[in-house]
Amino acid sequence: MCRAGEAAAGILLEVGPYVVPGVTTDHLDEVVHAATVARGGYPSPLNYRGYPKSVCTSVNEVICHGIPDSRPLADGDIVNVDVTIYLDGVHGDTSVTFPVGEVSDHDRHLIAETREAMELGISAAGPGQPVHAIGRAIERHANRHGLGVVREFIGHGIGTEFHSGLQIPHYHDPRAQTILVPGMTFTVEPMLTLGDPACGLWDDDWTAVTLDGRRTAQFEHTVLVTEDGIRVLTTTADGIVPADVFAVAASA
Ligand code: MF3
Ligand code: CO
Ligand code: CO
Repeated sequence: MCRAGEAAAGILLEVGPYVVPGVTTDHLDEVVHAATVARGGYPSPLNYRGYPKSVCTSVNEVICHGIPDSRPLADGDIVNVDVTIYLDGVHGDTSVTFPVGEVSDHDRHLIAETREAMELGISAAGPGQPVHAIGRAIERHANRHGLGVVREFIGHGIGTEFHSGLQIPHYHDPRAQTILVPGMTFTVEPMLTLGDPACGLWDDDWTAVTLDGRRTAQFEHTVLVTEDGIRVLTTTADGIVPADVFAVAASA
């Protein structure tokens, strides 16, 4: 799981410099596919429940599971690139929302606070903690910053399966009473919105969008519960975090 997480982070670092105005998301798909295969892995999304590409690219009002296509990214867009690699029998899953060129202050705020919400969710996890502590921390942060939390898509257990039975809501759900124990691996991947978090699905049966058309951001790490805390697995071996390299910091 550590190696799969490192590989997933390495792929995000490799694709990041290509996320510029004028690039098509199809091209990002090609880069991710090649970078995954070069590491000896398989791109988990490809043919997963019929998904047609090797990565998810979710632009602007797309919440998640955007399918790469021939539209060039434009200056001022925001795009989440969600990479999952299947390596030596297990999956590593991580995503970053990138600003494309110059983005608005609203979008910088959305990106920065979505990342912070993920970090707070991860910090709320640890051995002995209930799963609902994660979503509670995320939802509290979103509320404080006037952002919505998508409820239809949640974090998930991950390992030999891409999505295992464990469910990690990103809002406070008191029913999520599972107690975390060392050795568990799962994702934390909140999707926050500038407007109403209500969600719709395109007729491709994958692309999830905000119904009000306003923008949404997402960040994702794969994490491991340890004896004394939580370890983020989706960083490079020398500890580089793609979100540090590419995402925007909160504006003053
Ligand atoms: N990587 C996504 C997640 O975080 C899942 C994508 S499934 C796909 O769970 F089929 F759309 F690729
Ligand atoms: Co995931
Ligand atoms: Co993912």
